[in-house]
Amino acid sequence: MTTAADRPSTKLGIVGAGGVGSAMAYAALIRGSAREVVLYDIAAQRAEAEALDIAHGSMFASGTRVTGGGDLEMLRGSDMIVITAGAKQRPGQPRLELAEANVRILEAMLPGLMEQAPDAVYMLVTNPCDVLTVVAQKISGLPSSRILSSGTVLDSSRLRWLISREADVAPSSVHSMIIGEHGDSEFPLWSQANIGQVPVDRWTGPGGEALFTEERKAELAERAMRAAYQVIEGKGSTNYAIGLSGARIAEAVLHGQDAVLPVSTVLDGYHGISGIALSVPSVVGFGGIRTVLEVPMDEREERLLHASAEALSASLSTLGH
Ligand code: LAC
Repeated sequence: MTTAADRPSTKLGIVGAGGVGSAMAYAALIRGSAREVVLYDIAAQRAEAEALDIAHGSMFASGTRVTGGGDLEMLRGSDMIVITAGAKQRPGQPRLELAEANVRILEAMLPGLMEQAPDAVYMLVTNPCDVLTVVAQKISGLPSSRILSSGTVLDSSRLRWLISREADVAPSSVHSMIIGEHGDSEFPLWSQANIGQVPVDRWTGPGGEALFTEERKAELAERAMRAAYQVIEGKGSTNYAIGLSGARIAEAVLHGQDAVLPVSTVLDGYHGISGIALSVPSVVGFGGIRTVLEVPMDEREERLLHASAEALSASLSTLGH
């Protein structure tokens, strides 16, 4: 791991010092995702305390400087702003049900953030992140390349972890993505999934039997999609894995990595979809989304992508967007 000191000056502003924002700041310190991380929250004392608690571990992590507080000015000149503030899901509640409350919060918050960090790349983590991305783009007028959401990066990590345990190989050697809505209509791009170049359909178990049958794949997809519900049921919210996912995406932007990640951005004619944000494999680097990749999809995946777009479109129209 290179240390933050090896990197150009990069400032990451995290808005919301709840479980998700704090976990992301913590992950960013450990991974050395930025030179500087600012954890901002209107609850100033909370933000200050979370940042202090994280910064106190600095000698065991990277050279990233972590500070926190309730003064918007602290975010001035950020290269990237990650928004995690807002209402969270209750057990069993779909993400789309948070739309109304969190759109209001975003509308109130965004102009102030834009004033402090007019040149930043913005990332929505607050749910429903795809819906909020469309709204944020409209309010800000920024090009869609500069407004993205963490989308299905986390869901894809969950799926790769599930597959890796079945196949007994490292998650980093599993190549598979969940795309679409970060929510109930998401789906794995199974037609392109492979484990170390072996298509998943041809991966065999110890007795030579196919391990990833249609039934097994459907079960894994369901488990990845339900994963957040399962965690919320047990501990009230998810935070660690989304914190890591957010820090990972921030590195792609701040270090100009041109990494392919399933982040969500407002699409323009992608497989016939426009004006809706959903996750598809995208090249992420300096300035945000560099390119959205044209991935081959089979007929079923094509149908599911459009169903996901329709679910999001319905949510946006009830909000008047
Ligand atoms: C999850 C939240 C971030 O999937 O939506 O854990």
